[in-house]
Amino acid sequence: MNDSSLRAVGAGMTVLAYVALCTSVYWRQRRIRLENARASAALAGGGAGKPALVLFASQTGNAETLAWKTARWLHERGTPSRLMPLNDVDADTLRTAGSAYFIASTYGEGDAPDGASLFAERVMGGAVADLSSLRYAVLALGDRQYANFCAFGRALDEWLQAKGAKRQSARIEVDNGDAAQLAAWQAHCSGSDAEAVTESPASAPQPWRLVRRTLLNEGSVGGPIFELAFTPALGHEAQWESGDTAQITLDSDPGRPREYSIASIGADREMQFLVRQERHPDGSLGAASGLLTSTLVIGETATFRIRPHHGFRLGSNADRPLILIGNGTGLAGLRSHLRARAAMGQRENWLVFGERNERCDFLCRAEIEAWQREGVLGRLDLAFSRDQEEARYVQHRLLQAHEDVSQWVARGAAIYVCGSLNGMASGVDAALRQILGVEAMGELSASDRYRRDVY
Ligand SMILES: Cc1cc2nc3c(=O)[nH]c(=O)nc-3n(C[C@H](O)[C@H](O)[C@H](O)COP(=O)(O)OP(=O)(O)OC[C@H]3O[C@@H](n4cnc5c(N)ncnc54)[C@H](O)[C@@H]3O)c2cc1C
Ligand SMILES: Cc1cc2nc3c(=O)[nH]c(=O)nc-3n(C[C@H](O)[C@H](O)[C@H](O)COP(=O)(O)O)c2cc1C
Repeated sequence: MNDSSLRAVGAGMTVLAYVALCTSVYWRQRRIRLENARASAALAGGGAGKPALVLFASQTGNAETLAWKTARWLHERGTPSRLMPLNDVDADTLRTAGSAYFIASTYGEGDAPDGASLFAERVMGGAVADLSSLRYAVLALGDRQYANFCAFGRALDEWLQAKGAKRQSARIEVDNGDAAQLAAWQAHCSGSDAEAVTESPASAPQPWRLVRRTLLNEGSVGGPIFELAFTPALGHEAQWESGDTAQITLDSDPGRPREYSIASIGADREMQFLVRQERHPDGSLGAASGLLTSTLVIGETATFRIRPHHGFRLGSNADRPLILIGNGTGLAGLRSHLRARAAMGQRENWLVFGERNERCDFLCRAEIEAWQREGVLGRLDLAFSRDQEEARYVQHRLLQAHEDVSQWVARGAAIYVCGSLNGMASGVDAALRQILGVEAMGELSASDRYRRDVY
């Protein structure tokens, strides 16, 4: 065979491999959707009377997973149930429901998670007169390390009371997955003494070996950011989707696992992260980021649990154009999506990335520029805040490009935001509301076309 025939065979095999990959992704997603629909229908069937509503307000999936468990416990004791995200619920649904179980996490500074922000704005902030026909229970998820512990679950409970709804049982508050509180909730839902349940849907913790650590922002005025690469230490099978996160378990602080956005895809055969080294005011290193970026020696292992982040996966947006917005280590979650899109041959991707100075802080520059050349990135906008007199952030780039943002969204684009909650995510949210309008942003959230992995 001559050179050009070999090239043609090679190109043919690449196309075949690509078609096989697309087909398998399509069928897997279709299977998951069908399984979820079948599971919901099974839970709503059987038993007598109206199904109880099981409503969840979730950011990273804990509340959603507990909602599924709650629906199963109810079903097992003969109560059919209907599972819904709070954002899909309106006042009439509550008025006519009969009974409802609310499972709500808290985010930001005591705010509703994204999966309930519309509900908080439209229903809790609206004019619901009378919910006296509703019986309800609230499970509030939170973490006492935050100043406003379980604030959204509490606000929801108080609002339901104020509207006349009847509490079936006292609100249960779960501090960072507290097993005793979760068992109390299970006992309430299943009507029996319950075994302790766990809050997280994550896979079992597994040891991962550090194989590479690279400083990405040498000379930066900000904290050092490293790219880390881990391989399974036991040769175990590891599966995740772009957008998922991994929790590291610390011997020194087993109560509070730290979460990191996975920056790679399964095909990379490595779990990669972008981690900023934290330093406490006393000069000591952050517990998890210090281990990852400094103390852990190449070849040593750390324990990670992969967590499906349903709210940030590509999911139903896999075939849509994407606007990906982030700053700093937020590039991690966006990078996994871009690698997945590149593997799928999906080219309608617009990255808006911000950091401080282009010279030191243009993270993963070579990969991003290669995506630009290869057409994986249809558009790239960069905002280096300190490269000009007036600070310029990603939200300013969006406002400047407002006509294109509107056009992409009109063409069906989904918006993904990853990175810091304070400053970036709130600024981006305000800019998008200004560009697209509050109503349109509500519709994007409700149809899962506005997804965030923010911290
Ligand atoms: C969904 C999600 C995704 C994330 N993804 C990423 C990512 O991709 N990359 C990334 O770098 N980070 C990410 N994070 C943040 C990450 O989980 C950690 O919060 C971060 O690395 C800091 O953890 P640490 O253990 O190093 O710091 P900690 O030791 O917990 O310190 C954090 C802060 O707490 C305070 N503090 C703690 N102890 C002390 C002390 N003794 N004295 C004074 N102050 C103290 C300080 O303000 C300090 O800056 C993500 C978070 C979430 C929730
Ligand atoms: C960025 C961030 C902010 C949070 N803010 C709060 C808070 O203000 N109050 C609180 O009680 N818990 C807070 N939490 C803890 C979450 O509510 C808790 O982890 C919950 O289990 C998440 O559930 P979910 O995965 O369903 O969203 C916060 C967690 C994160 C990551």
